[in-house]
Amino acid sequence: MTAEPSTRVMTVTLEAVAEAAHCLKAGGLVAFPTETVYGLGADATNAKAIARLYEAKGRPAFNPLIAHVHDVATACDLGKLDPNATRLAEVFWPGPLTLAVPRQPGCPVAELATAGLATIALRVPAHAVARDLLGTFGRPIVAPSANRSGHVSPTTAQHVLSDLRGRIDLLLDGGPSPVGLESTIVACIGKPKLLRPGGLSRADIERVLGHSLADGPPSAEASDEAPIAPGQLASHYAPRTPLRLNANGASAGEVLLAFGAPIPPGARSVLNLSPGSDMIEAAANLFSYLRALDALGAPAIAVMPIPQTGLGEAINDRLQRAAAPRRDV
Ligand code: TXA
Ligand code: MG
Repeated sequence: MTAEPSTRVMTVTLEAVAEAAHCLKAGGLVAFPTETVYGLGADATNAKAIARLYEAKGRPAFNPLIAHVHDVATACDLGKLDPNATRLAEVFWPGPLTLAVPRQPGCPVAELATAGLATIALRVPAHAVARDLLGTFGRPIVAPSANRSGHVSPTTAQHVLSDLRGRIDLLLDGGPSPVGLESTIVACIGKPKLLRPGGLSRADIERVLGHSLADGPPSAEASDEAPIAPGQLASHYAPRTPLRLNANGASAGEVLLAFGAPIPPGARSVLNLSPGSDMIEAAANLFSYLRALDALGAPAIAVMPIPQTGLGEAINDRLQRAAAPRRDV
């Protein structure tokens, strides 16, 4: 009998963070909490560690990674922030915003992490554990969401374990991720473009820019062949159970992902994203409720309509991906 490779799970303490930094230095893979979702971290300058990361996730190698850094000054060493990017960074970092910008010449992040693109995605996370880890490690950390490719993003340590146990070295358990949606990605290469709606709303970004954000590449362009914004791959966020969107209620056998009140009767099981129609609460619950309903093995998950306001745009984007036909990734 062969023993399964083990993943150490540590509750966050100073020693645990030091151990995590040590593990990253040795080329290891460390899952850690951020305010958006849990990330699977590797040393951004170590191509071998990054290759292991792609393997652990089962992620197609064309999908580039976000480099997480401790502060704006470090971000400027890696990428060229134009005046729009600088303004957004000043206002929203640390926080749930990722900026895609041109790579600086001599940027130490491994080419593999940026999948050969001339641009780099940068984020300064706000979560105390992520910040401590970045500070202790002292180098950029690439971190995709800590799920197997094609699964929903993890918002708790338990989600990470259920996808990656035995495939990664260490998991820092810092409790649930408060935002619950991935970061919003804005490309600042010429006119700013929204590449992925996320935990920071479009309206907040537009208010700071003083003008509206262009939309990112249409989904046809965001394909395997032209990975300008591979986060937009059609079926990226997919539970096993089919989703039926904009449902007024559940049909026979279906389980219900509800929003607001009242809830139509008849579902075998119901989870309500936010009984009080609060978008922030709904975003924080989205991935864990999808996972919980997926685990029930129902013929379908009926999803009630969610308004497009505030974080509703990002929630609906994730739901549409989850509902798209599965592809092998
Ligand atoms: O909230 C988040 O952003 C989380 C936490 C852990 O920080 N990370 C995350 O990473 O969601 P990931 O890899 O699951 O999604 C990042 C997305 C990918 O879809 C990738 O294609 C896109 O960012 N991306 C990375 N580099 C890019 C670039 N240079 N230009 C355009 N898109 C890029
Ligand atoms: Mg992801």
